[in-house]
Amino acid sequence: MQKLVITGGIPLEGTVVLHGAKNSVLPILAASLLCQGETVLENCPRLTDVFAACRILTDLGCRCHMKEHTAVISADGMCCEEIPERLMQEMRSSIIFLGALLGRCGVCHLSYPGGCELGPRPIDMHLDALRKMGAEIVQNGGRLHCCAAGGLHGAKVHLKYPSVGATENIMLAAVRAKGTTYIYNAAREPEICDLAAFLRQCGAEIHGDGGDTLVIHGVSVLHGTVYRIMPDRIAGITYLAAAAITGGTVQMKQTEPAQMENLLPVLEQTGCRIDIADKTLYLHAPVKLRALPPIRTMPHPGFPTDAQPIFMALMTCADGVSVFEETVFENRYRHVDALLKMGAEIYVSGQTAVVKGVRQLSGAPVRATDLRGGAAMVLAGLAAQGVTEVTQIFHMDRGYETMETVLSGLGASIKRENLE
Ligand code: UD1
Repeated sequence: MQKLVITGGIPLEGTVVLHGAKNSVLPILAASLLCQGETVLENCPRLTDVFAACRILTDLGCRCHMKEHTAVISADGMCCEEIPERLMQEMRSSIIFLGALLGRCGVCHLSYPGGCELGPRPIDMHLDALRKMGAEIVQNGGRLHCCAAGGLHGAKVHLKYPSVGATENIMLAAVRAKGTTYIYNAAREPEICDLAAFLRQCGAEIHGDGGDTLVIHGVSVLHGTVYRIMPDRIAGITYLAAAAITGGTVQMKQTEPAQMENLLPVLEQTGCRIDIADKTLYLHAPVKLRALPPIRTMPHPGFPTDAQPIFMALMTCADGVSVFEETVFENRYRHVDALLKMGAEIYVSGQTAVVKGVRQLSGAPVRATDLRGGAAMVLAGLAAQGVTEVTQIFHMDRGYETMETVLSGLGASIKRENLE
């Protein structure tokens, strides 16, 4: 077990090169199961969730090698349609293999992903849609046994909520199904567009990604390709926020500013100046951050739930009162206790949190509760007076590639240590 030890109060200065997106590479790794020949993924982030996805691919009999930031996968030798419980539990989003396995083999056995740090993680929409596409799904002892004896066929699927995971699973099941699949009220996140772009490059016929209706005409064969994973917009906003909360100035390279258009204006509202030159962002923080107008988390293009803890950390040090309303996940204020311990003033009632900015946070020992909640604690630690120790940092390793190296490269005093 390891911890991050942070001595706060240093304005961050310098350059960050943004890594590839976790939420994009995971479904694309699952999609590689559907391809004949070799798939090469560039800009592949070195994250524990990515390594877990690679272990699932290897366990299924695929070849999967990662060298630096390039993953090379061949699913030609795949010999198994079962994912053991142990591997399913390593990564919450392992359920994304369901649609791909069904699409590839017409049969699969895996376990229910269960609840997670953010509250229950139901998959009813995934299962309903796959049943509509011809799969028989039986749940037994926590295992899901899925079979589409005559192969999957196209269907008209109306999602009751634009779930990212359900949209991806249906896309993966539909690309090689017989006939046409329509997904109404589909998720519109940039990562959905990245998956669609990858699949198209492999020979799939997908239309409408980025909008709320996806139309997928099934094809019989997909082939491998070389594809570059989009940059991680949530890691990007985290590092920009790290500069903002410390009163610093950073430039961030290899970004896709259009994919952050629901985030950058919010950062500007706090008083940060952001300049954009092609794929490079420049952030110049104000002397004192300003409180934000009310923030409500929503599916894309609304304000992303993954950025809520990050902006809450910022608002603990802002001038004024900010209000957050979390509508996507039931249990996404678990980072609040740690921020309170560091001197923040936050009042939570149900899904609403009211944050009154304080003059100065103070360092404290805290425990990361989840990926983005842990990142919020690191941001608070960078701004706080004194030393903050963050434990349970395996949460952050799921989504930030060597966070401490990136931040110390910007001048922060942060190091990773083994727990005694
Ligand atoms: C993905 C992201 C996660 C992000 C989330 C919302 C990945 C790997 N993870 O998670 O970082 O926070 O989108 O933007 O891409 N729901 C149901 N039934 C279902 C499916 C979902 O009720 O069958 C509910 C969930 O409980 C949640 C909401 O829908 O309340 C949104 O979930 P969803 O969009 O599916 O999130 P994930 O794909 O799990």
